[in-house]
Amino acid sequence: MTIGIGLLGLGTVGAGVAGILASPAGRHPLVGELAIKRVAVRDLNRPRPIDLPAAILSTDAEAVVDDPSVDIVVEVMGGLEPARSLILRAIAAGKPVVTANKAVIARYGEEIAAAAAAKGVYVLIEAAVGGGIPIIEPLKQSLGGNRITKVSGIINGTTNYILSRMADEGAAYGSVLADAQELGYAEADPAADVEGADAADKIAILTALAFGGSVPRSAIPTEGINRLDARDVGYAAQLGYVVKLLAVAENPGGAANSAQSAASQALDVRVHPTLLPKSHPLAGVYGVNNAILVEGDPVGQVMFYGPGAGAGPTASAVVADILNIAGIWAVARPGVAGPGASGAGAALDPLLAASRWRQCHLIDSAQTRHRNYIRLRTSDEAGVIGKIGSCFGAAGVSIQSIMQFEAQGERAEIVVITHEVLEANFRQALLAIEALADVQAVEACLRTL
Ligand code: NAP
Ligand code: HSE
Repeated sequence: MTIGIGLLGLGTVGAGVAGILASPAGRHPLVGELAIKRVAVRDLNRPRPIDLPAAILSTDAEAVVDDPSVDIVVEVMGGLEPARSLILRAIAAGKPVVTANKAVIARYGEEIAAAAAAKGVYVLIEAAVGGGIPIIEPLKQSLGGNRITKVSGIINGTTNYILSRMADEGAAYGSVLADAQELGYAEADPAADVEGADAADKIAILTALAFGGSVPRSAIPTEGINRLDARDVGYAAQLGYVVKLLAVAENPGGAANSAQSAASQALDVRVHPTLLPKSHPLAGVYGVNNAILVEGDPVGQVMFYGPGAGAGPTASAVVADILNIAGIWAVARPGVAGPGASGAGAALDPLLAASRWRQCHLIDSAQTRHRNYIRLRTSDEAGVIGKIGSCFGAAGVSIQSIMQFEAQGERAEIVVITHEVLEANFRQALLAIEALADVQAVEACLRTL
């Protein structure tokens, strides 16, 4: 029996999915059972990289969801609306959904999960985080016995591609971003990539899976690479670091804290450019690749690595989710691979049914502990470094290194790297430093691992 696919979107990811389904030879036999029945697009006249009968294309996305020949709805159109409403419409009709839309899941995941659980249908989201890297299913299942203490990673392909080419070739930010758009890595509005929102959506999703409860998406402190100065990338390199856009979700108390049955688990979740020592496992992740480091008790550290964006890798994850559903249908009624194969409720996704098993909230950022990099513009006079050091000392901030990089005329550039310190103390030191007559500006302030 054929399983009818309704594609909402035929852009980078949608065309990638259609490409896989159009060439089943050599793939899992169930791929041959999948047939694209209807496709929703915005513009019927746009040239497409894949040949599909014109009659199955429509600008009426609701009609695609409602079409009786569509058994699984694949949402790859992006944006919040109408994507959210279409997903809920499919669920209401009892149709499983596969989506790559992290923006919708990060904001409306709980609403969608509740609707799916009530209706007993799957909503699978492997493509929403990490492109072609399997990370959702491992967090849901394979690592389920662990107390997760930290999830950190490079989870935006566009920005990693930009940073890699800027560091390797000295390429200009604007032209590399244009290349990332051309290659299909960037979001429809690339501000989501370079301002960090896409990575924040993804870490919100990973947080909910890893820690069993979500934190408000809008509260996640988020800083992108759009204000990153090439000088800092250069200085970082001279000091033995690479700069990456890192997304982090951690339980600051570690495994012991995770074990406590606190009413609400305090988490430090954030996205920001970060100096990584060149020896760090995430430092060698270049180009469009992503990597996610999961730390748990008792597993230790597990790293997931691979292409994080683009048509092929993302379509690989989408098709895997479709096959998951098709496979369950096939097992439920051997020989009848199709939607009639499972009873109502039988296909409930364990993630959606049981993943939210505790409350989580963001820790007060002043109480977090980090290493920091700051770059100051100062006057080039005797005693300036001493005064800066005194400000740090008075606030209880221990300095790892302090260097003067450049002096031009009466102007100097000073870079400080701190040890791991309480954020509240660091902010207090910065205020005192900004007030020094010799300090003209704090020009950069970045996290360091
Ligand atoms: P895209 O290239 O911009 O494609 C979007 C598709 O959706 C286009 O075919 C567009 O139609 C269609 N569409 C948009 N709004 C529509 C509407 N209201 N009604 C009907 N059709 C509509 O986007 P993409 O890169 O494939 O990304 C799709 C989703 O996957 C997004 O949620 C994105 O975040 C996610 N994702 C993307 C990647 C990646 O590497 N690109 C990776 C992981 C996840 P037209 O073609 O007619 O304009
Ligand atoms: N724009 C996203 C990225 C697509 O660059 O990572 C993959 O989610």
